Amino acid sequence: MKDKTILLLLGAPGAGKGTQAKRLAVSEALPHVSTGDLFRENLRQGTPLGERARGFMESGQLVPDDLVIEMLFDRVSRPDCALGYLLDGFPRTLPQAQALDQALAESAGPEPSILAIDLVVDDAMIVRRAGGRLVCASCGHIQHSEFDPPRIAGKCGSCGGALATRSDDLPEVVKDRLAVYHRQTAPLVGHYQSRGVLIQIDGEGAPDAVFKAVTEALTERRGGAA
Ligand code: AP5
Ligand code: MG
Repeated sequence: MKDKTILLLLGAPGAGKGTQAKRLAVSEALPHVSTGDLFRENLRQGTPLGERARGFMESGQLVPDDLVIEMLFDRVSRPDCALGYLLDGFPRTLPQAQALDQALAESAGPEPSILAIDLVVDDAMIVRRAGGRLVCASCGHIQHSEFDPPRIAGKCGSCGGALATRSDDLPEVVKDRLAVYHRQTAPLVGHYQSRGVLIQIDGEGAPDAVFKAVTEALTERRGGAA
């Protein structure tokens, strides 16, 4: 039986976590768990959780740890996560990382293996990426007005649905999200480095090149077995 594997993607807002997670979920056969997507789904459905998260998300602040941690553990306790999962956007604070460490240490059976992939992208590129992001309202496919423009204006290249801009991608909100990232999330790089499970990848290349670098680094980390 396959060992339980947890992969997590670190990186600033717009670094390409969602873009790479969609590919890695397929290549690694792991469910893609994005806390941002889970909150946006709660917002769309008008749940109490979504309403509590709304103000924080719209202003580019982090949702309080207790809400995020409860939502995350509820999601990863489902059967599709029994053999592992791919985290996108969690953890984002030291208390979230510690909650995950503790849950994994206390889980039944052998402790799951964990690898943290940090997508490193410079702030100026982050602003360009977030500013041009287009997300399909139907299937969640991510495109970009400059780097991956739709062939038909406003239409998703994957399913033909309507492409929309995320409300937290307004320039002033992106600035705040970046500041929050540097203050609260960037220190997690040190947390995973000190545990010897950090993989840093230059995230500035094209999506295919970044994906190749990630998969090669994973293969190397696992001792060369493809
Ligand atoms: P979340 O949805 O996680 O947003 P984020 O971390 O700010 O990250 P993004 O989704 O903006 O960027 P990404 O790295 O996924 O980039 P993408 O692949 O889309 O969180 C939203 C909010 O929810 C937070 O602000 C917070 O309020 C709350 N929240 C979520 N998790 C939380 C937590 N754990 N704790 C507390 N609060 C939490 O790419 C961006 C664009 O660039 C796209 O248009 C894409 O096409 C393009 N692109 C990507 N890669 C490349 C490339 N290599 N070359 C060219 N273009 C590229
Ligand atoms: Mg994302």
